Amino acid sequence: METGMDDLRQKYLGLISGAADEASLENLRVQAVGKKGEISLKMRGLGKMSPEERKEAGPALNALKDEINSALAAKKSALADAALDARLQSEWLDVSLPGRRYRQGTIHPISQVTEEVSAIFADMGFAVAEGPQIDSDWYNFDALNIPGHHPARAEMDTFYMHRAEGDERAPNVLRTHTSPVQIRSMEAHGAPIRIIAPGRVYRADYDQTHTPMFHQVEGLAIDKGISMANLKWVLEEFVKAYFEVDAVDLRFRASHFPFTEPSAEVDIRCSWEGGTLKVGEGDDWLEILGSGMVHPKVLQNSGVDPAEWQGFAFGMGIDRIAMLKYGIPDLRAFFDSDLRWLRHYGFAALDQPNLHGGLSR
Ligand code: PHE
Repeated sequence: METGMDDLRQKYLGLISGAADEASLENLRVQAVGKKGEISLKMRGLGKMSPEERKEAGPALNALKDEINSALAAKKSALADAALDARLQSEWLDVSLPGRRYRQGTIHPISQVTEEVSAIFADMGFAVAEGPQIDSDWYNFDALNIPGHHPARAEMDTFYMHRAEGDERAPNVLRTHTSPVQIRSMEAHGAPIRIIAPGRVYRADYDQTHTPMFHQVEGLAIDKGISMANLKWVLEEFVKAYFEVDAVDLRFRASHFPFTEPSAEVDIRCSWEGGTLKVGEGDDWLEILGSGMVHPKVLQNSGVDPAEWQGFAFGMGIDRIAMLKYGIPDLRAFFDSDLRWLRHYGFAALDQPNLHGGLSR
């Protein structure tokens, strides 16, 4: 034999392992095992051999061909892997880099505060619930023990939706508070239940501390043996966590809501001195929430047996507590979409508030 099989083996295995890319690998394949390749030619030579020679050379050639073929396949996939790695190395993209061509957007303080509030209540075992912004008068009023003639309806400066002429049904309303989500959540999940429901609410009112659209977060906890004491504890824990301080001055005032009995309004100590709003000092009080023990009729209207279950509810002004925490004196500016204001008061888009990393950093 001219070139020994061992030599061929050495030659091609060496060339294959040194191949730089898929094209040179393909050339090697043709050279070795292609129709006119060195090994194929040798196989053709088998015919001219004596039977004894062939008996030995045949299987050896076949084994060599197999070996070369699998070396080719292995090298091919190694080259493909290396090519992918190289691409991944050169094409990587840091998605957390700030934009270069466009000015970076910011998270609106209301969104930021909603996230903060959700993080704190999630830590106390409250799930986040939702309800529609356009709701029926049943959910917004009647189910909450506010019948048609009740003065609370007038007090809330409700926006009514249009009904087609001849449609006798009571008009839907833009929800005046997040309390209808209490009813919807209890209907859907029964008791026990622990939810908060942040969202937009609407009332026809406009001054430094009132806008026709604003934000509330409802809280609801129904279980066996819940009392006002639990309400007070939860609110105090919340306020401390939210303002990131050890103590805050809260004032619980006896009040009245048709859907809670007894009811309390909660104010927080603050000062407006020099036009800046500061929490925890001064002689002013800002009302931040209404609360109380859920009225038995409200439980009943939601399919929960008041003989077995009770609990508390509260409705807090998100915009109010945003103003307090971030020293924003005029509520109306929240919704002016003034870019200078948004850049000043907005939050970095990638800082998600959580209790471990810090709420507002
Ligand atoms: N829904 C009341 C409001 O908007 C607040 C509230 C909620 C009071 C829950 C008591 C219980 O003023």
